[in-house]
Parts: sequence; structure tokens; C-alpha cells
Amino acid sequence: MAKFLPGLFGPLNSLRKDLRARLLRDNRWADDWYRREFFRAAFYALHFNGIAGDYAEFGCHDAKTFRMAYRWSRAHRRMPKRMLWAFDSFQGLPPAETGKDDHPAWVAGAMATDEARFHRLCQGAGMRQGSDYRTVPGFYSDTLRPGALPADALPREIALAYIDCDLHSSTRDVLNYLRPHLRHGMVVAFDDWHCIAAGAISGERAAFLEFLETEDRFHFLPFRGIDWYGMSFVVEDRRLLPGRATEMIGYRT
Ligand SMILES: C[S@@+](CC[C@H](N)C(=O)[O-])C[C@H]1O[C@@H](n2cnc3c(N)ncnc32)[C@H](O)[C@@H]1O
Repeated sequence: MAKFLPGLFGPLNSLRKDLRARLLRDNRWADDWYRREFFRAAFYALHFNGIAGDYAEFGCHDAKTFRMAYRWSRAHRRMPKRMLWAFDSFQGLPPAETGKDDHPAWVAGAMATDEARFHRLCQGAGMRQGSDYRTVPGFYSDTLRPGALPADALPREIALAYIDCDLHSSTRDVLNYLRPHLRHGMVVAFDDWHCIAAGAISGERAAFLEFLETEDRFHFLPFRGIDWYGMSFVVEDRRLLPGRATEMIGYRT
């Protein structure tokens, strides 16, 4: 019997590859697969590197990525228990401010999930409001303004910031809020890094490029791509880099 076993590995492996290729052809399944893989890698990296802090998601809609983050933030019993923060209008996208908010899919009011439904979805996945997660409802132009909310209504320390609010104007407000929270070793992810308009660089990438013009304390080391659309970075304190090194090393999807 034992002598036949090695012969089975080849066919089983090609069956596995074939199944994966078929599943990836269904785009929704692929979306989930790559995002899950991102959260697995990010939470393990933060744990392994001893980076403390919470998870903050900017753009939560129907809690798909929020629930993935919950699952992977608690994948191992030795992982520190991180609070998950959901920042969303719970009314969908705000109206465009400028041409940098252009994209065929970005329409005011799109992707609205009201807060009660959001809680039902989270609690259906076993998450407890207050001890596992908290929401910060409202448009970022209101909630993320300096001093708009009391300090205890916002995270103190962030280890993973997941930006999934599509628009340039929304991402600009998020990045301005995140500026004082940037720390060596944390991860910043953009779900819509490669979502741009036909005639312009719009959306999250446009906002981040502008932000980099005004932020020279940190280097953003490419970490993981998220399928064709997303990108993530590990934040590095420039004072710890030899010379003024800014080269991009180790980019893989
Ligand atoms: C692409 S959806 C998020 C998808 C979500 N991560 C998921 O997995 O289901 C974009 C979300 O960003 C929110 N959003 C965009 N701009 C916003 C702003 N300026 N203030 C508050 N929420 C905003 C929308 O309400 C919407 O829920």
C-alpha cells in the first residue's frame, strides 16, 4: 500500500490546482480569497513583530472585510486581543468633491449599509459590540475632524489601518486623521489602490500620493498586494533606515 501513496500526490496536486483555478475564475470568490490571505498575513506579521494596537477600518459597508479581520485577528490564542474599529457613514458614499473622486462605480449613496444591519452582521459572526468592536458612525468630514469626538470614542493606538472608502476626498480625510497615529511597524492597506479613472489618477492612490508630499517621517515599504485592486505597506521610521534608503524591496502579491 505504502508504495502506491507517492504516486497519488501528483494527481491530487493537479486536482487541487485545477479546483483553485476554477474558483478564482469566479471573481467574488477570488476577492474573498485574496482579502482573507491579506488579513492572515498582516495579523501574523503584526503579532510576530510585537506591534501593539487596534484594527481600524475606514469603509465598512456590509462588514465583509471587517468580519475577516475579526477572524484573523483572533486566529491564534497567543495573539493580543485587538479592538476593531468601524469608521463609516452607514449611509454609503458621500457626493464627489472634485474630479479626483471620479470612477464609474463611485456614486453618492452607493454601498450603504445602515448601522443596525452592520451590528447584526458582526454579531452574527460572534463579535461582541464594545469588547470586540466599536463603530464610529458619520461622514469623515465630521467624525475625523481634530477634536470632533472625545478621545475615548476613538482608537488610542492603531496597528492595522484598512482603507476601503474608495474616494479621494474620503481617503484624504482618513490619512490626515491617521498622520499622528503613524508608527514604525504598523500596516496601512488600501483596498482600492488600483481603482482609478480613465483620464486621471483618482481615489485612494491619488490621496496617498498627495499625502506623501507632506509626510517625510516615514517610509512606506510595500508589503502585500491584495489581488489586482489593493496594496498594503509597512510603515518604517526613516530615522531607522540606513542613509535615506527608500528603495522598494520585497514586493509580492
Ligand atoms: C467599498 S465600501 C466598503 C466595503 C467593506 N470594506 C466591505 O468589505 O464590505 C465603501 C464604504 O465607505 C464608506 N465611506 C466612503 N466615504 C466615506 C466618508 N467620507 N465618510 C464615511 N464613510 C464613507 C461608505 O459608506 C461605504 O460603506
